Amino acid sequence: MSNYHIKHLEEYFQVYRKSVREPENFWEEIAEEHFIWRKKWDKVLSWDFTKPEVKWFEGAQLNITENCIDRHLATRGDKTAILFEPNNPDEPAEHITYKQLYERVNKFANVLKAQGIKKGDRVCIYVPMIPELAVSMLACARIGAIHSVVFAGFSAKALSTRINDAECKMVITSDGSYRGAKTIDLKGIVDDALENCSCVETVLVAKRINSDITMKEGRDKWLQPLLDKASPKGKAEVMNAEDPLFILYTSGSTGMPKGMVHTTAGYMVYTAFSFKNAFQYREKDVYWCTADIGWITGHSYIVYGPLANGATTVMFEGVPSYPDFGRFWQIVEKHKVNQFYTAPTAIRALAKQGVELVEKHDLSSLKVLGSVGEPINEEAWHWYNDNIGKRNAPIIDSWWQTETGGIMISPIPYVTPTKPTYATLPFPGIQPCLRDEEGKELKGNQVSGRLCIKFPWPSMARTIWGNHQRYKETYFSAFDEMYFTGDGALRDEVGYYRITGRVDDVIIVSGHNLGTAPIEDAVNEHPAVVESAIVGFPHDVKGNALYGYVILKDTGESRNHDNLRKEINQVITEHVGPIAKLDKIQFTEGLPKTRSGKIMRRILRKIAHNDTSNLGDTSTLLNPEVVESIIEGAKDYK
Ligand code: WT7
Repeated sequence: MSNYHIKHLEEYFQVYRKSVREPENFWEEIAEEHFIWRKKWDKVLSWDFTKPEVKWFEGAQLNITENCIDRHLATRGDKTAILFEPNNPDEPAEHITYKQLYERVNKFANVLKAQGIKKGDRVCIYVPMIPELAVSMLACARIGAIHSVVFAGFSAKALSTRINDAECKMVITSDGSYRGAKTIDLKGIVDDALENCSCVETVLVAKRINSDITMKEGRDKWLQPLLDKASPKGKAEVMNAEDPLFILYTSGSTGMPKGMVHTTAGYMVYTAFSFKNAFQYREKDVYWCTADIGWITGHSYIVYGPLANGATTVMFEGVPSYPDFGRFWQIVEKHKVNQFYTAPTAIRALAKQGVELVEKHDLSSLKVLGSVGEPINEEAWHWYNDNIGKRNAPIIDSWWQTETGGIMISPIPYVTPTKPTYATLPFPGIQPCLRDEEGKELKGNQVSGRLCIKFPWPSMARTIWGNHQRYKETYFSAFDEMYFTGDGALRDEVGYYRITGRVDDVIIVSGHNLGTAPIEDAVNEHPAVVESAIVGFPHDVKGNALYGYVILKDTGESRNHDNLRKEINQVITEHVGPIAKLDKIQFTEGLPKTRSGKIMRRILRKIAHNDTSNLGDTSTLLNPEVVESIIEGAKDYK
């Protein structure tokens, strides 16, 4: 029996039991058999959730790019590693073989070195979904630089915050990007961001849209001429197991995003193992995850997980609506995609378009359908199952987080019987549990509570860059000696998990994890605003949309409220990015506060959900009278 590739349910239970009973042996066997190491580990695991400190494969040495690229050269050198599908359907797709990837990564790594980047330096990658994005990440990993990819839809402000937090020495970007019929001036955004970043010495610019941009003397350099001169060969830096591989930012309960730090060996082992099983990937398959690499889904399941398995991974530059809403299905047909991984928000948006655009395409290559990012509602699940999978391709509803590095709870296709809206069973090595608000563990089935993880797993984030205390407070303080996910969940009568959503101040909009704090901070920047509170409310495509309660400085002032709403959303776009725009803005005289001054978002959430029948006890509020006036005011927003 191979623990690495599970093929039937009985085997899953056996493997799972082993992973819990003897976690060290379990992961050691997988690490031994399926990866190449420069030096093996001295100890598989050491951990202490009170500090918290977790180390996997301590003493081992490796380079993740040797596992993702070099070792495939002998057997899969001419196999397509990255299949790039451009925004414009008339532009030819690009097949980058493992051999070509090896050369491109080495060239890029040599350019980085020539520009003074060394092991441990941070490099910010602000690049759209073009091959240079994946190549630059791998090039960093090859020389031991820590990449910090920032989604190329983020604003200049969001970008500069992230560059400064990690003290990046270099930014990699492109002249611009294509997004459907539009182009975006990425380099202009970088220029704005860098007004506030003194740490950046060099900006490397890839050419994509051939726009006219300004290059700052001494700082900005075109990438291509440097690559042309660089050698396609190069040795990979020898890394320690726990050396940081990358930083990736996620929203939190304060305005400052959290730079989650993922390390080398554990992340590699877990993303590779989970990719193989979650998608039942076979040698000739073509796999496509539609996420942007700027999110963890893309890091783990477009780049590292697939490449570590020698897979063919599709990278799509465009959007699902261009040139029409049939684009995803056209690509599935064109490249005979076998595994397709997307987000519920995309499924709902496409379902709205009807089935004609689906039926125009041959989707018979599909064997596995994946969903990730937020709870998938029953209707979307069935639409996906009936119309895309033709009830013949199991849906894996995979639950995980930026912090977990890899898929945690998910069916294994053709192994775990699926159940609509259920993420089902934990992956081997993952020990979830549910706790009530007092912290008591809820044993047995048919219970619901807060979702925690009891035992370390290889791909968990090790810290928050520059702020270990915050890591401890956010994830290891709510419940004793456990990792707290921030999600609520229920366990049904057979032990299947269903994730019910966030129980903290994070709102998932279109599958993007948005903290309320940074958006409120942005709204409060508007000169007319005193204070604001943001909550989520259900939206039929986005899952959740944002509802803002805003106190104005001078309500008597005869300012046009619609203009103010536009301006407020403009400020949000500048500070956070367009994904965080408010769908509804209600101007109010006050916000419900506890006696310690905390905004009672629970009440505001109920009002936004149009459910004011049971607001709970409001008498403990500092200002209970404000609740009535907010309810009254909300009537205009239905
Ligand atoms: C949060 C993490 C991990 C990839 C993308 C999001 C929610 C994620 C599911 C799912 C229900 C889900 C959770 C989680 N979430 N997948 N299958 N069912 N909820 O990463 O931005 O770190 O967000 O997304 O609330 O905590 P992220």
